[in-house]
Amino acid sequence: MKRILVIHGPNLDLLGQREPVIYGRVTLKEINRELQRIAKKRKVSLTIKQSNYEGEIVGLIGKIKNKYDALLINPAAYTHTSVAIRDAIAAANVLTVEVHLSNIYSREEFRQKSLISPVAKGTIMGFGPKSYSLGLEALIDLL
Ligand code: DQA
Repeated sequence: MKRILVIHGPNLDLLGQREPVIYGRVTLKEINRELQRIAKKRKVSLTIKQSNYEGEIVGLIGKIKNKYDALLINPAAYTHTSVAIRDAIAAANVLTVEVHLSNIYSREEFRQKSLISPVAKGTIMGFGPKSYSLGLEALIDLL
């Protein structure tokens, strides 16, 4: 069975109550439940982590080898700032799909750059919680 690590970055634990006009009312728990439903249906194993700490996310990615076959990540605010997370993904050389709830290119200028996209196989954004489901399905198809 293929193993996929899902990482939710900072503040995504607040989904449902955080800026609902932008991120909607669906909670992280509900997103995770839907991801587990897809994983069960597609017969892959999912481990899901959320962290508000850049170093912790770097550590998780650094230990990915021999444990997981792919990474689904919403780096959240670190998308736009973290050379460390980008380097960790490049070093792990693991199949990675980046997702975002919102379309970062239709938002503030400081969000309109992803340091992660160049090291990801692909990026899905702008579809709310559906970005995660689409990202997971794409990742499983690639595996
Ligand atoms: C986000 C977009 C980021 O710019 C923001 O910092 C987030 C969430 C998204 O999923 O739309 O926290 O990654």
